[in-house]
Amino acid sequence: MKHIDIKEIISKPSEFIGSSVTVCGWVRTSRNSKSVAFIELNDGTSLRNIQVVVDKGEGEYKEPRVGTSVRVEGLVVEGRNNTAEINAVPGDIFVFGDAPTDYPLQKKGHTLEFLRSMPHLRGRTNTFNAVFRVRSVLAQAIHSYFQQHNYVYLNTPLITGSDCEGAGEMFQVTTIGYSSEYKSEEDYYAADFFGRKAGLSVSGQLEGEMGATAFGKIYTFGPSFRAENSNTPKHLAEFWHIEPEVAFMELDDVIELAEDMLKYVIGDLLEKCPDEIAFFDAHFEKGLKARHEELISHDFARVTYTEAIELLKKSGEDFVYPVEWGCDLQTEHERYISEKVFKKAVFVTDYPKEIKSFYMKQNPDGKTVAAVDLLVPGVGEIIGGSEREYDYDKLITAMKEREMNLDLYSDYLDLRKFGSVPHGGFGLGFERLIMYTTGMQNIRDVIFFPRTVGSIR
Ligand code: 4AD
Repeated sequence: MKHIDIKEIISKPSEFIGSSVTVCGWVRTSRNSKSVAFIELNDGTSLRNIQVVVDKGEGEYKEPRVGTSVRVEGLVVEGRNNTAEINAVPGDIFVFGDAPTDYPLQKKGHTLEFLRSMPHLRGRTNTFNAVFRVRSVLAQAIHSYFQQHNYVYLNTPLITGSDCEGAGEMFQVTTIGYSSEYKSEEDYYAADFFGRKAGLSVSGQLEGEMGATAFGKIYTFGPSFRAENSNTPKHLAEFWHIEPEVAFMELDDVIELAEDMLKYVIGDLLEKCPDEIAFFDAHFEKGLKARHEELISHDFARVTYTEAIELLKKSGEDFVYPVEWGCDLQTEHERYISEKVFKKAVFVTDYPKEIKSFYMKQNPDGKTVAAVDLLVPGVGEIIGGSEREYDYDKLITAMKEREMNLDLYSDYLDLRKFGSVPHGGFGLGFERLIMYTTGMQNIRDVIFFPRTVGSIR
């Protein structure tokens, strides 16, 4: 159907004034008076609506209800403050579908919680229009960054036979149910689709390392799955994961890459989404734009895990989770470090080996590994990464200490046998990046259909 995006008219009004156009969209508001009626129309391509001014004349005008979908043919004229609006008569308006009075988005100002109960409709509100445009622009910026720097975009498998993070958080993939007919677990898995136990991947990293040792620089951008029982505002069972992996990269290089990439994508967002950022600044986080401008023009902070523990201990804060060297940093600790101590994005490095994954490079102190997490104000951790252990014997020892089944990792171990190289990378949670860039507080509000423990639709 021939029509023009409302965004085109709104962003370049002078190009359209005086011409006839056809636009399609949904009625956001409607006002009706004796001789003239006003419709605010939105087709989703822009945060802003276009106003249709209907000269009722002698014609019969049936006021469209909020949510009704229409096509309007009319003349673009100059409105107030250099905007464009469309002049039409009743016969220029064609209704595709009425929206009866039980259309839930009649009024403005619904709570995010209420809107969460209707993921199929909430995209039609300003907030979600802005969230998903930011999401789309950020995705493109991430691809651009890596493509400009010679990375290969690698699609790693979603169904896997090995657990990358080793935290027991894999969803199982099966086509048969367990029954007493199987004498052992092994028999059961042998009869299953893949002939062995399979699950949804928690990370593309292990295959990413195989890519990096072939193509030098790769990145993945796809879903990861975690069956962790964490019903928090920052955990999803299905999230989108960006994982660069690079040969000949040490921990400092990983940190430099993460900072450079984030500055690039946030800079691009400021340029491409000024309306959306202004919207979030006004309605969700005062000072958001200034925070982004500050981030792209200053260095991120850097601290070791051991120093971070000292800072937390000295803080005098009454944390729910006690702080001791060796403990995992909880969100409350992460936010204290980034919000109260550094007041900006901060890399925390060199964590105790016991709380990190088997593949991380072991530091000479024998106690810590060359790991890095990036903590940001408002969210906490958005990136987790490391330099990888590339010494075959040390890697085997770490895996044995964790009682891992080495047979499942034979391909991975081959990388340490054949031309092993220092390498590293990180994982960025896409939804956490969107939370950080929009100021949205709940991860369920930055993905179209959130999957969380106990909730799917
Ligand atoms: O720290 P994580 O577990 O690291 C890895 O998966 C590594 N294999 C990454 C790598 O080095 N290639 O996860 C990385 C990031 C986290 O910092 C977080 O942003 C996000 O993935 N993440 C989640 N996001 C939403 N919901 C969850 N349940 C998440 N779990 C991790």
